[in-house]
This record gives sequence, C-alpha cells and structure tokens, in this order.
Amino acid sequence: MHAPASISPVVVNGQPCALPQSTLASATLLHVLRNDLALNGPKYGCGLGQCGACTVLVDGIAARACVIPAQGVAGREVTTLEGLPGRCSVTEGLHPVQQAFVDEQAAQCGYCLNGMVMMAVALLERNPDPDEAAVRRELSGNLCRCGTHVEIIRAVLRAAVLMREAQA
Ligand code: FES
Ligand code: FES
Repeated sequence: MHAPASISPVVVNGQPCALPQSTLASATLLHVLRNDLALNGPKYGCGLGQCGACTVLVDGIAARACVIPAQGVAGREVTTLEGLPGRCSVTEGLHPVQQAFVDEQAAQCGYCLNGMVMMAVALLERNPDPDEAAVRRELSGNLCRCGTHVEIIRAVLRAAVLMREAQA
C-alpha cells in the first residue's frame, strides 16, 4: 500500500497536522477543521465570507475559514476557538476574552460568538487598550442575529482590562 504522494503540514492549535494533498486541494479550511479535525468552534454561517461565524486566526490574523482553500494554509499556523486557552501565556483556563464573554453573558444562541471572540482576540493582540469605537469597528463585519451587540462590546472592553491586569 502506498502512502499519499504528498502531505501538507499545517499547525493547528499548536499541533502539527499532516493532511493529504487531496484533502487540502478540494476543501475549504472550515470543512477540514470541522469534518477532518473535529474542531467545531468555527461555525458555518453564510459560507460566503460575509457573516464572520467561521473566523479563525491564521498566523495571528483573523480570517474567514469558509472561503479559504485548505491548501492556502499549508505551512501556516491556524488557531481556532479550541486553541485559545493556550494562547494567553499569563492566564490559566479560559482565555481572558472567553472569560469576559461569560462574565458579561454576551450570548443568546451563541452562533456568532466564535467569530466575535476570535476577532476580539486578534484586536487585543494588536491593540491591548482599544476604545469602544475601535471595538465597534473591528466587529462591524460580524453579524449577530440575536442582537447581543451591546453585551459583546462590553465583553471585549472587559477582556482588555483582564488581559492588561494579567500582564501587570
Ligand atoms: S460562514 Fe464564513 S463568513 Fe459566514
Ligand atoms: S448570539 Fe445569536 S447570533 Fe449572536
């Protein structure tokens, strides 16, 4: 029996994954994460890059996994919601952004929250002290059909405080 001719390495949540080229060539990143790696944090919403429910980090940059061909992340580092607890070196357990969303009860159905949380992490890694306008700008492309925007914005601002306190 022959091994697949070509395997592309991807690092997902700090773990190297080797996926056959055939898988990568024919699927979106979201499909591979959910169906091959059982990482169901990223959600399928619109499938068109328009709602943000599928957001992941690729080399630390927020990206919409439903429109990225899986082969586009070969050799890159992907972080999903499941990988966030290990991403903040100064806290244990939940990532401070996740904790702040819990504290502020910033969910109704929760479908949009993966994208909101991942966008918030990307923002706070770039800018540890954003004002409300910056948070609103960052999240403006992420849709919440339940209308929990006020709580979500409060959660991101609270997360910024938690992260700064943890690093002090
Ligand atoms: S599911 Fe990817 S942007 Fe909507
Ligand atoms: S909490 Fe339901 S879509 Fe945002």
